[in-house]
Amino acid sequence: MDSESSRSVDDALTRLKDVPGGLLPILHAIQDVLGYVPPDAVPTIAKALNLSRAEVHGVVSFYHHFRTEKPGRHVLEVCRAEACQSMGADQLAVRIRERLGVDFHQTTADGNVTLQPVYCLGNCACAPSVALDGEPHGRMTAERVEALIASVGASR
Ligand code: FES
Repeated sequence: MDSESSRSVDDALTRLKDVPGGLLPILHAIQDVLGYVPPDAVPTIAKALNLSRAEVHGVVSFYHHFRTEKPGRHVLEVCRAEACQSMGADQLAVRIRERLGVDFHQTTADGNVTLQPVYCLGNCACAPSVALDGEPHGRMTAERVEALIASVGASR
């Protein structure tokens, strides 16, 4: 881990290690700052919480939300849950993957956009939904998602 990452992990542990059930808030706090949970932070987190490395690793890998690789400059999340699927999310995902030239959990070659699946953004009434850098966008069509991708400068 570089020094910035170490500082962020230490800061999250200092603030939250004594909170009951603090593991999830700690992981969220680290990802909020760094964009991911560095795998080499797992031993530090485990030691601070008196857990095994396997327990911490298990939680990180259980939740789709947590990333273990540094993301691109922007993160595009595409909802794959039921309400969005019934409104064409699968076809939309195909278009987005073709457009970006990456699959889910991958980052474009220029490091600009990471594509992530997500299972409900709480925006079901406006399905199909995506979120760009955490901001939800609903009633997505191929045209609207193209505009969104273009807004972060993703080249074709
Ligand atoms: S199912 Fe997609 S936002 Fe809820």
